[in-house]
Amino acid sequence: MQSDLSLEIVRVTESAALASARWTGKGNKHSADEAATSAMRSIFSSIPFRGTVVIGEGEMDEAPMLYIGEPVGNGMGLEYDVAVDPLEGTDIVASGRNNALSVVAIAEKGNLLHAPDMYMEKLAVGPRLAGKLSLDDPLETTIRKAAELLVKDITELTVSILDRKRHADKILILRTLGVKIHLLSDGDVAGAMATAFPETGIDLHVGSGGAPEGVLAAAALRCMGGEFQGRLLPDNDAEKQRCIEMGIAHPSNVLGMRDLIGESDIYFAATGVTSGDFLSGVKFLFGGRAETHSVVMRAETQTVRFIHCVHQTHEYQLGSA
Ligand code: FBP
Repeated sequence: MQSDLSLEIVRVTESAALASARWTGKGNKHSADEAATSAMRSIFSSIPFRGTVVIGEGEMDEAPMLYIGEPVGNGMGLEYDVAVDPLEGTDIVASGRNNALSVVAIAEKGNLLHAPDMYMEKLAVGPRLAGKLSLDDPLETTIRKAAELLVKDITELTVSILDRKRHADKILILRTLGVKIHLLSDGDVAGAMATAFPETGIDLHVGSGGAPEGVLAAAALRCMGGEFQGRLLPDNDAEKQRCIEMGIAHPSNVLGMRDLIGESDIYFAATGVTSGDFLSGVKFLFGGRAETHSVVMRAETQTVRFIHCVHQTHEYQLGSA
């Protein structure tokens, strides 16, 4: 891998965050997403690498920018798989709530799972639980094991899960066990990542969310020594067929870190759009200046850099709100 790419890719997430934050609370998720995507794409073109989007805004015929298969980068340097979510939490921004991120992960070509746009059941943990739990276990077993391994009472354990009707059974189990629950309105990449930042107090993330977001979460957790497991949840025959075409003959099998993100080095960057559990959101200052908070990480060295940056934003006002 080129060792200087981390500071390049954080420019990409910063630009997307700056552009989409202008849409905070304005009830327009499409414009927020479009602003993020367009800003991200524009900065990508200045980065010296040959990337191909494997997780992006959609298939070529449904997304004009950062579609799956789109080449990104300035066409020089090594070849990489690129996973992007220019705005992870479009509804969060539209309604002015917490925990929206702009996110990018890159890995050597051929390593990132081309996850189809369907739900995935997820289990994410930080370094202290990595390698010690299984998505195949019933949730109650997982919770009891986690509490034991962390030397905590079950009532002291905090589990995050998306606040969705489909999670009613899981939430009931968690409440019956007496676990503290962090209900997320949206944004399960942040939910999964939070398990590896001890200051959040979140021990596990469970429940189902988007499969592409699962690959991004796995990439982040690999850089922090955590672990992510996923199981694709195809809803119909067409989705089952998509899994098979991707080489996943048994979609009900648990996908581990190697299945999701391969074994190559990984760079991951996230910038807060709205403030969240571990990153502050964009703040517009005076005189066209704005500040961003980002985390940029590399799997091979496990370096986790927090970058607080003040920008002169004229160059980013691509989709002014
Ligand atoms: P978007 O930014 O694409 O709207 O995704 C937000 C999100 O909450 C993801 O974090 C999560 O994986 C997915 O949506 C969950 O989907 P659903 O809202 O259908 O439960």
